[in-house]
Amino acid sequence: MSEQTLEKMDLTTPAFVDENIAKLAELFPACVTESKNDKGEIVRAIDFDLLRQEFSDNIVEGPQERYSLNWPGKRKALVTANTPISKTLRPCRDESVDFDTTKNIFIEGDNLDALKLLQETYLNKIKMIYIDPPYNTGNDFIYNDTFTADKDEYDEASGQRDEDGSRLVSNPDSNGRYHSDWLSMMYPRLKLARNLLRENGVIFISIDDNEQASLKRLCDEIFGELNFLTNIIWQKKYAPQNDAKYFSASHEHIICFAKNIETFSIGLLPRTNEANKRYKNPDNDPRGSWKSSDLTRQEYRPRDDYSITSPKTGKKFSPPDGCSWGRPKEKIEEMIKENRIWFGSDGNNVPSIKRFLKEVKQGITPQTIWERKDVGDTQEGKKIIKEYLGNVSIFETAKPPRLIQRQLLVSDVKDGDIILDFFAGSGSTAEAIMTANTKANYILVQLPEKCDEKSEAFKAGYKNIAEISKERIRRAGKKIKEDFLKKEGADKEGIENLDIGFRVFKIDSSNMVDVTLAPDETKPDMFDSLVGNIKKDRSAEDLLFQVLLDWGVDLSLPIIREDIDGHAVFFVDGNALAACFDEGINEDFVKKLADKQPLRAVFRDDGFASDAVKINVEQIFKLKSPATDIKVI
Ligand SMILES: C[S@@+](CC[C@H](N)C(=O)[O-])C[C@H]1O[C@@H](n2cnc3c(N)ncnc32)[C@H](O)[C@@H]1O
Repeated sequence: MSEQTLEKMDLTTPAFVDENIAKLAELFPACVTESKNDKGEIVRAIDFDLLRQEFSDNIVEGPQERYSLNWPGKRKALVTANTPISKTLRPCRDESVDFDTTKNIFIEGDNLDALKLLQETYLNKIKMIYIDPPYNTGNDFIYNDTFTADKDEYDEASGQRDEDGSRLVSNPDSNGRYHSDWLSMMYPRLKLARNLLRENGVIFISIDDNEQASLKRLCDEIFGELNFLTNIIWQKKYAPQNDAKYFSASHEHIICFAKNIETFSIGLLPRTNEANKRYKNPDNDPRGSWKSSDLTRQEYRPRDDYSITSPKTGKKFSPPDGCSWGRPKEKIEEMIKENRIWFGSDGNNVPSIKRFLKEVKQGITPQTIWERKDVGDTQEGKKIIKEYLGNVSIFETAKPPRLIQRQLLVSDVKDGDIILDFFAGSGSTAEAIMTANTKANYILVQLPEKCDEKSEAFKAGYKNIAEISKERIRRAGKKIKEDFLKKEGADKEGIENLDIGFRVFKIDSSNMVDVTLAPDETKPDMFDSLVGNIKKDRSAEDLLFQVLLDWGVDLSLPIIREDIDGHAVFFVDGNALAACFDEGINEDFVKKLADKQPLRAVFRDDGFASDAVKINVEQIFKLKSPATDIKVI
């Protein structure tokens, strides 16, 4: 047995192009061939000539006119979406709340990286996405991804990068690429986000009139026009802005797409007492309360022009002029027999249909206009932040949690579902989920965008927006719990189980050294900062989460740290995975670990006391726990 048999983990994000080729190969195996890349390596590639033949006449090529959304930079944006990265998520216990037990996740970093890192673990797992991206008003900042491609080129072109590598650039509408820049920013992110949605999942995107039209078209392309659910009009404020030049904008849009409209089912809104009060029972019908509904059809149909006789009084009723009855004669006769037609308590009124409360839908179908009285407005969003953070009013655009709660309802979110918000801002989505009547969990992503040194937030000690978001969620969680306990008859046990914690992760370079660096890329002091192939400043917990990501294991699973023979071992979700990143591992230790029969086991490639131990690891597991999948990093 050779040591090569222990499989080494890859630890980069998925190679999206390879995955696309694999998908095509499944449909058209003959069209996938092998070619050589610039390094002379054999790679799989598409034979477009053959693929073309599969579609015979249904191909659009060259300058032919076609209906599509295009902008300068679109191709590059697609490449951006498909380029794998070798970054990782580093856990940060100090900034987390209930790190070991919470199922909520807060990721600090650029959401493009975050979405790539989450691709394997959360593929088809997210029930609802809500995002509130920069609206491209000309004053807000958008993230410039092109910068990653070539630092010098970008520095020269923009002159906007500061010494800390901040990549935010303002996008004034005097910039010729105004809409294109914004679309190029959104395109790769939405494409990656779609992969994460479950088949019955749904996405809501807040936007105003600056980019509403472009966003709708972009989503048509990414999610498919057929999956468009609606464009919700949210009444964001009440009082008009009288200094507005033309119209005072009092609404915003929330564009809403299903991942697959056939599998998505709408959540109904709870029936209000007011709506229920309209149901009465004047004739003591044993089927319970009912309300009457008009039987007249406002259109003439000769077939339905007949007279209906009141069984109690014998009085006959014909439809009003130009109208007819809404049901055929035989149907009405049957309904009269079943006491489903109402002629008033004295039997002399125009007939109407009795609609029983227990037969109507248990909820109300959501409408497309969302009023501030029902879901809150921007004022409410700001006021809530103020309650938690005082004058840290960096979030002019914070959304009221009630607005997001309405989305949870119409998405039919259930216990255990995961909600993603990758433009988290002040964390309103986290608050909405904590206060909603469901045990759903969240993944939030927020860039550590620097606070302006003159801002109240900076003066209050917050260096960047991610710090504000985390503090808001901490304080909101605490307050929600306190408020709940103050309520009379509060379900103390229920609130104890409410998850107000979150695991913080920060996006950073990989824990591993890129051993494929060309000689001219290495620096003399570089190897001082390494232990084996792992960077010196990385902890065992850092390595653990990189492994979880690579193996596609849920990042919110419970983790227990145990000591076996003086070595720290992490057990994830009981026995789902055991990881030890210590050095000097010997056979006795491996045997004890194998006795625990984990489903997966992972070690450091250079963690074994000798080559002999490394060679024997597989044999030991084969004997004691043959089902264990073993890997090294
Ligand atoms: C309009 S705000 C969201 C407000 C949020 N809905 C709330 O209620 O507070 C947009 C947020 O996205 C963040 N952002 C912008 N580009 C980002 C990126 N590339 N990655 C992660 N966050 C980003 C901004 O820092 C900002 O906080």
